[in-house]
Amino acid sequence: MNSSAEILSRWYAFEGRDLPWRATRDPYLIWLSEVILQQTRVEQGMAYYMRFAERFPRLELLAEASEDEVLKLWQGLGYYSRARNLHAAARQIVGEWGGQFPHTLEEVRRLKGVGEYTAAAICSAAFDLPCAAVDGNVYRVLSRLYDVDEAIDSTAGKRTFHALAEEMMQGARPSIHNQAMMDLGAMICTPRSPRCEECPLQDRCMARAAGTTEERPVKNGRQKVRERWFNYLDLRSEDRSVLVRRGAGDIWQGLYEFPLVEREKPLELEELAACAEFHEWVGADWTLQEKTPLKPHRLSHQLLHAVVWRLEVPRFTPRAEACALDSVEIGQRAVPRLLELYLNKKG
Ligand code: ADE
Repeated sequence: MNSSAEILSRWYAFEGRDLPWRATRDPYLIWLSEVILQQTRVEQGMAYYMRFAERFPRLELLAEASEDEVLKLWQGLGYYSRARNLHAAARQIVGEWGGQFPHTLEEVRRLKGVGEYTAAAICSAAFDLPCAAVDGNVYRVLSRLYDVDEAIDSTAGKRTFHALAEEMMQGARPSIHNQAMMDLGAMICTPRSPRCEECPLQDRCMARAAGTTEERPVKNGRQKVRERWFNYLDLRSEDRSVLVRRGAGDIWQGLYEFPLVEREKPLELEELAACAEFHEWVGADWTLQEKTPLKPHRLSHQLLHAVVWRLEVPRFTPRAEACALDSVEIGQRAVPRLLELYLNKKG
């Protein structure tokens, strides 16, 4: 009898997606695609991949670029630490391996921002090393195929799923098998309304036989969502606005934004004007021109409520960490998505 992996690889030959990073064995380009796709759907990631591959066709070019340029190219994709790590790791490869992409799982795993999944995805796709790449799609496929009721976000569950994944790929071609598992999860074995009638493994799917497909995979609790209230000060003087580069230790490190006053709740203008940061940035002489509440912005574990206060001031108080830019210069900086939407509307 054919193994599940054999059936799957035959299905993949006909039905697998034709994606640009699958047409190369260049580990750098495959790594780039995997980092972009870490928290991003293929449809959204594709344009970013094409742009990065065009601007940085070789790893040395990425390593030579400035972090600002890399972040600007990444703008809108979210989880910006991925871009900073990608850039830092490119420099690491140049420094440590003379620009030669490392060839073993252990070495690839040492790259900044590369976890177990990404290392396995790269090494299997680029070098055909037999490592199972277990991402969300693959957890779902395995949990249904073997009807596993262990939680995918528990330590024991993770071990079980990795063992199953390794076992399933025995004898299969790693570069094909992992991609095929991803495609099955993305196209057939979807989270809701899976297309079981089209699945090449439907006859051996244990969850289908047991009627538990909808209950797989099992997940433990969700992390609580933290709510935050941002007041952005769009300080205007002679058609320039002030931008500040965000520091380490919070979201959006390295991105630019307006001076920020953050509090535990929404603020009225009088309350905002009484804040110390407001006074430091704005001084005593200002006129409110417009208050723009932005659409609530969801991050993975945060919900941001932001308001932009546009304030006309006679002059800017000079501060080392700030720069006063016109709209063209602002357009060249990487800003968070919610401010990009605001800036696009304002022109
Ligand atoms: N998601 C993560 N890696 C992927 C890949 N190589 N192909 C399609 N989707 C993916």
